[in-house]
Amino acid sequence: MQTWYHEDPALLHVGTLPPRNAFTPFAPAQDPFGSPETSSRRIPLNGEWDFAAFESPEEAPEAWWSAAPRRKMPVPGNWEMNGYGRPVYVNVRYPIPYDPPFVPRKNPTGVYRRCFTARPEPGVSWILCFEGVDSCFYVAVNGRFVGYSQVTHCTSEFDVTPFLREGENELAVLVLKWCDGTYLEDQDKWRMSGIIRDVFFLLRQESGIERYQVSSSLQGDMGNLLVQWKSEEPVSLEVLDPEGNLVEKAETIRDSYEFRLPAVRLWSAEKPCLYSLIFRTSREVIGERIGFRRVDVRDGIFLVNDQPVKLRGVNRHESHPVTGAVVSPEDMRRDLLLMKRYNMNAIRTSHYPPAPLFLRLCDELGFYVVDEADIESHGSVEAPLNKDQYQSYSAIALLANRPDYEAAILDRVQRLVERDINRPCVLFWSMGNESGYSLAFEHALRWVKQRDPSRLTHYQSMHYLKDAPIPNDSVDVLDMVSVMYPPMERIERFLANPLEKRPYFMCEYAHAMGNGPGGAEAYWRKIYSEPRMMGGCVWEWCDHGIRVGTEPDGTPIYRYGGDFGEENHDGNFCIDGLVFPDRTPHRGLQEIGQVYRPVRVERKENSFLLRNMLAFTAAEEVLLCRYEAERNGRLLLEGDLPLALPPLGVQEVILPEVENLSGDGISIRFMFSSARDTEWLRRGEPVAFDQILLSVPASQMREEPAEQIALRIQETRKAISVSGDGFEYGFSRETGLPESMIFRGKPLLISPAKWNCWRPPTDNDAPFRSRWEFLHLKDLVPRVYRMEAEQTNAAVLIRSELSLGWQIHTPPLRLSAVLKIGSAGSVTLTAEARIAEGCPPLPRFGLLLPLPGNMETAEYLGYGPVDSYSDKREATWWGAFSETADQFRERHIRPQEAGAHVGCTLLRVTGESAGLQVAAEKPFSFRFTRYSQEAETAARHRDELFPEENVFLLLDAAQSGIGTGSCGPATAPEYQLDGKEIHLCFQIKPILIRETEDHE
Ligand code: GAL
Ligand code: MG
Repeated sequence: MQTWYHEDPALLHVGTLPPRNAFTPFAPAQDPFGSPETSSRRIPLNGEWDFAAFESPEEAPEAWWSAAPRRKMPVPGNWEMNGYGRPVYVNVRYPIPYDPPFVPRKNPTGVYRRCFTARPEPGVSWILCFEGVDSCFYVAVNGRFVGYSQVTHCTSEFDVTPFLREGENELAVLVLKWCDGTYLEDQDKWRMSGIIRDVFFLLRQESGIERYQVSSSLQGDMGNLLVQWKSEEPVSLEVLDPEGNLVEKAETIRDSYEFRLPAVRLWSAEKPCLYSLIFRTSREVIGERIGFRRVDVRDGIFLVNDQPVKLRGVNRHESHPVTGAVVSPEDMRRDLLLMKRYNMNAIRTSHYPPAPLFLRLCDELGFYVVDEADIESHGSVEAPLNKDQYQSYSAIALLANRPDYEAAILDRVQRLVERDINRPCVLFWSMGNESGYSLAFEHALRWVKQRDPSRLTHYQSMHYLKDAPIPNDSVDVLDMVSVMYPPMERIERFLANPLEKRPYFMCEYAHAMGNGPGGAEAYWRKIYSEPRMMGGCVWEWCDHGIRVGTEPDGTPIYRYGGDFGEENHDGNFCIDGLVFPDRTPHRGLQEIGQVYRPVRVERKENSFLLRNMLAFTAAEEVLLCRYEAERNGRLLLEGDLPLALPPLGVQEVILPEVENLSGDGISIRFMFSSARDTEWLRRGEPVAFDQILLSVPASQMREEPAEQIALRIQETRKAISVSGDGFEYGFSRETGLPESMIFRGKPLLISPAKWNCWRPPTDNDAPFRSRWEFLHLKDLVPRVYRMEAEQTNAAVLIRSELSLGWQIHTPPLRLSAVLKIGSAGSVTLTAEARIAEGCPPLPRFGLLLPLPGNMETAEYLGYGPVDSYSDKREATWWGAFSETADQFRERHIRPQEAGAHVGCTLLRVTGESAGLQVAAEKPFSFRFTRYSQEAETAARHRDELFPEENVFLLLDAAQSGIGTGSCGPATAPEYQLDGKEIHLCFQIKPILIRETEDHE
């Protein structure tokens, strides 16, 4: 009978080989740098396997390896994505009772079977390799038990030579959904099972190299390369330079060798220069890529190759909308190219080691990697029935403090380090995520420090279990202070602490969920101004939506937590990436790409200062620069700017023609494009820009010339109507606003204008949402107390006093408004809104105008062309743009506010024959859309939302910023709309299309 090991943390692996560095051996005549699949010493086992599913291991036959197959299952593959079981998305909370090391009896079980042909030869071992199985597995060959292993995102290897026979053999793997390791795999992701990474045999020469380690160090420009290995026979080594020329050779040596190479070229994310090392034994050849680079912390400053480097990073999970946790080499490369394109240089492999190939791609393309152990026990914080037992968050360390899990924690850290020890891209060893701190972590850190002193150690979750032994968390084990989502004050406190000397890393910041992240630029100003700030990684790279179909136009339909009938789930908290599940960029990626721009421009008196943010590259090596100066969106002059900008250097530029420009609304935009063809950008494609406003844009509001044309006023109990030459407007006594506007026989409104302080809550509005709902801000009802019309010389004035309220509470807003109707038909609305005591910061304050469906073009002077908010507008610039109601809209997977433009001074909305021109006293924001706010607020998925016939124009005197409050600090106070008063002043003029065309 099979002995079960999966509820025994004392037996983590049975029959496995000790962990080793990842490499692929080749036959002597082969190219050892070919992709692993090309090696004749590797027998792939990926493909369709026979599969039988059971409710629990006990339900499987005792001789489980002979379970009758019922269907096929792809390897690698998640069975929940292939018709067995369903995916469950939970973040913190465990999907099983917290009862370590036990797991539910109902433990979905899959038996995988396949045949393979073997020709065993003396001296050759058949090593069976699994790069990742979720969550644990038992292996049998030809009906005999071979071993057991766990740790989903690490490699397990078995020497199956003694189990083989000549010819046809059978391999069977029993995979369980849950095991004792599940308590250490509580990462925020879909909980899915199966063989999720490559499975293959390596045919190894018994006397060949078992494992090796290459350590490079630098002495001046001399590179030392210490190569150590374990093998029975002597080895020949060759070192090749990045072009593939032989640099040095060493023949028939044993155990170790040190090369000293003069004038080595260094590896960095900017210049990922890779040397090559070839190991030859009598019957094998192995190729390894080497990067010479050094990582240090000196005086609290993080250095790569002696240069201060900032980590412009992102957190990356392995996630795919169709295959789940399975990602192909093409997917990996595509992600990395997109990250390059958006100026990223660092990746945290949240929260487990990535597939081994991924790190090789990072070596090649150039990324600094925070390589993380497969550890997270976040859910223990939710485990206690009475949380008051534990000080604040201390229960997060419950599992980490269990003596029976200490070995598992160390094992996971060791497997990470041993597998990836030779990867130049890895700069940090991270102990895992959100598991609290304990002696187990301290011991693991000490082990790492002694095993690999060349890299830095990282861990963020410094929460201690009450009454537990206090571990050492100091400088000798942890090289940096790591934090998540800090509010600015927390950063200030850190910087002001004289006792803390380490550098500061934000392993997570800027939660990109939905419309977000806002406020990223503020972090980066701080990072660049403080040498001890290392940078950080945005949370996170991709949305983890599951694709369930497509809309008629081909748009994918995605589902998230709760959509598969789960009871315990975390909804759309997994839709929090910079790219959609299919890697279409979100607006947030554009924002971060800009915040991460390689060159920044500042104004200094009568010159411009260009700052190179790259540490190893002169800007002119990689970038071209052009500038354009505009006045209110009209191009005045342009030119090429030759860059002479050394790494981390400054270039002062004086542009006399620009200095001579005068007037309001003058801006200059420096545009940087790629100077070379790369895999991620072609020469000339845009990289980033920086805009500087040289003079403030002026209001475009113009008083109507006072012509003595009398206007007619007609009053009823319900409305006041005002008519003049070619127009007739009705003003409702219910709202104090226009209810109809007919201009030259054409309706400009299709239904009454409304006061509006709602926005369909964004995910990042989480800190405010419930208070907004409590006050029912989404449809406040106006109560007009007084409304009077007065005829003056050339205009009609309508004054009103009103409030906006709902049921239950005091009205949150009280308004005094004046409408001025000019003789040519302009309507100027001025209002003072007083916000009641106790009212939360408002989403926005302004008007909603329902326009006829054909008024579908908007031209504006403001921040565009993509949407902009007060704290999310780095990717936009101030200028003249146009869009149609159907054209620009980011269709968030969970519908929410999107598509606004801030800083506008002029807006023209036009249809077939008529339109509206809007100006204001102060820069305003607008949104132009065919989606109603009601529908957007109610819909849970974008495919449930349909555009309307008509167009909604939202004019905002002010709108709250975006922030990153879905996880992290609420929108910064300076971007919240929480004043006691808001002043609104819009001038709306009708326009006749023919007339305006002549006019312009
Ligand atoms: C962090 C955690 C991440 C993710 C994020 C929210 O606290 O480390 O794994 O859950 O919050 O999206
Ligand atoms: Mg977590």
